[in-house]
Amino acid sequence: ALVYLNGEYLPLDQAKVSVLDRGFLFGDGVYEVIPVYGGQPFRLQEHLRRLGQSLAGIRMAQPLSDGEWAAIFERLIDGPGDQYIYLQVTRGAADKRDHAIPAQITPTVFAMGSPIAPIPLDGIRAVTLDDIRWQCCHIKATTLLANVLLRQDAVERGAAEAILVRDGCATEGAASNLFIVQDGSVITPPKGHAILPGITRDLVLELAQQHGLATEERRIRLEELQKAEEIWLTSSTREVLAVTELDGAKVGDGQPGPVWRRIQEIYQAYKQ
Ligand code: PDD
Repeated sequence: ALVYLNGEYLPLDQAKVSVLDRGFLFGDGVYEVIPVYGGQPFRLQEHLRRLGQSLAGIRMAQPLSDGEWAAIFERLIDGPGDQYIYLQVTRGAADKRDHAIPAQITPTVFAMGSPIAPIPLDGIRAVTLDDIRWQCCHIKATTLLANVLLRQDAVERGAAEAILVRDGCATEGAASNLFIVQDGSVITPPKGHAILPGITRDLVLELAQQHGLATEERRIRLEELQKAEEIWLTSSTREVLAVTELDGAKVGDGQPGPVWRRIQEIYQAYKQ
């Protein structure tokens, strides 16, 4: 399959960028991950709106219109199977390495399609880790070193995801948003600079409300996470995952809970 790079469609092994690209030198760029179901990008407007916000957050203009993005995705989508589009915009190559932003820049614009890995429906293990990331987690920046180290730490502890804790509160996963169920109510941390405003998060809240589930957007203290009836992690590539073990202890009875089964059913119906 071809990938898109700066106006061209190329085989993956022919898509090359400069070693002076600021994405390579500084992680100076932003990205999006957009699921594609039945050949259609899912929640496209929401993803493109967030891309615009991330770009504004790093003082860059949108390099393409929404229509131009949509046309690119159409060419990258490979058949009707579940897949996702990864796109990234960096501040491009400068003539020398300098932290400050050059007056003239030509962004590097890249997009590719990938298959979505099977989603574990019987739940995953998670561990809590200190949130060592920066203070602008609302920007979907390619600068992901902290997330990489946190996820690796989780994997080495036998877990699929790290749930991050900042100032005594659980914020989100290393690459996912966090929900808990407490007294039957579905709770997720509020938007702000501590979390990425997840597209799946918003959809899960919206669907829960539409189907009469009680929802709350508020901070989740670590002790509440540890005592939660259910814990879920949401993301574009993994939908709604049930966490069945936290730091080696069972969540609820150690099986995905009844509220997760309900939201899973609602989410799958909505996807169609
Ligand atoms: N990650 N929080 C973080 C830190 C994330 O990296 C992601 C997504 C999410 C979930 O957002 P959304 O529902 O919009 O996918 C929350 C993507 C999938 C990634 O980095 O691959």
